[in-house]
Amino acid sequence: VIAAVRFEGGRLEVLDQTRLPHEEVWLTLGSAAEAAEAIRRLAVRGAPLIGVVAGCALAVEVALDPGRLEAAALELRGARPTAVNLAWAVDRVAAAARAGGAAAARAEAEAINAEQEAANLAIGSYGADLLAGARRVLTHCNTGALACGGEGGTALAVIAALAARGPLEVLACETRPLLQGARLTVWELARAGIPCALCVDGAAAGLIARGEVDAVVVGADRIAANGDVVNKVGTYAHALAAHAAGIPFVVAAPESTLDPATPTGADVTIEERAADEVRHVGPTLTTLPDVPVRNPAFDVTPADLVTAIVTEHGARPPRGLTPNGV
Ligand code: MRU
Repeated sequence: VIAAVRFEGGRLEVLDQTRLPHEEVWLTLGSAAEAAEAIRRLAVRGAPLIGVVAGCALAVEVALDPGRLEAAALELRGARPTAVNLAWAVDRVAAAARAGGAAAARAEAEAINAEQEAANLAIGSYGADLLAGARRVLTHCNTGALACGGEGGTALAVIAALAARGPLEVLACETRPLLQGARLTVWELARAGIPCALCVDGAAAGLIARGEVDAVVVGADRIAANGDVVNKVGTYAHALAAHAAGIPFVVAAPESTLDPATPTGADVTIEERAADEVRHVGPTLTTLPDVPVRNPAFDVTPADLVTAIVTEHGARPPRGLTPNGV
């Protein structure tokens, strides 16, 4: 079983995802500042997981010094701007701390972790029902246990549930610039014994057009009120290719990723990351050291291109989304 986070006896430990797949190194996060830094440098990443870890880190901080609550909540909320799960979890733990102090904050953080674990399982099963006939599935970035906490994940939970029901071939896109697909998804699938092939992101559209893919399944960092999906950069291109080929494009995410307060994808802040992430592959400089760079970490897939959104409450069309499937 893969675990990305441990929160036992008030001690917060995370697997350093920058070191995978070659090294499994655990970090202890002793304060909100250390957690915010781990989130910023993607040692901890994936929309649900950054929410879980930030919630736990706020509980750790409040136990050390209750007077730090508001400043720590602000710092954690601001660590990354795009995934709504981060602010959502911090706000929940902060509200619990204001009402009931450190013990209540810790209980709330543990509850968020447990809810996410339950959501992962339900998402996998609903998604596999929806895509029952699919035997060749393409995915992007990493959406497994590493991205979510608990077991399973979102899109990767759907893939695991499909694989449990019959033979499945997975095409994993490498996900430039930081290679979450190549480093993390391939590692998770290998550990689960699910066959996969790795492709460069630019190969996906051609392979889909050639008829080599039955469905595309991805996660999300934020889903706007109109059903627009914000996810790892490169996702939009896969959605266009799926639409052109007439295959399903399915988004798997917990309810905490739905953001009814944000009208459309255009209203979401898209994180721009450091230029050197693009100028390098791993430690190797691949271009001129001073070339200007664009490095948006996410893109917006319009709701029109999304076949269905799968949450822990089931599958539904992206239009007219309301929280909790109501
Ligand atoms: O920058 P990352 O690695 O945090 O981006 C992660 C993604 O884009 C995932 O697809 C998304 O968070 C969904 S994970 C269940």
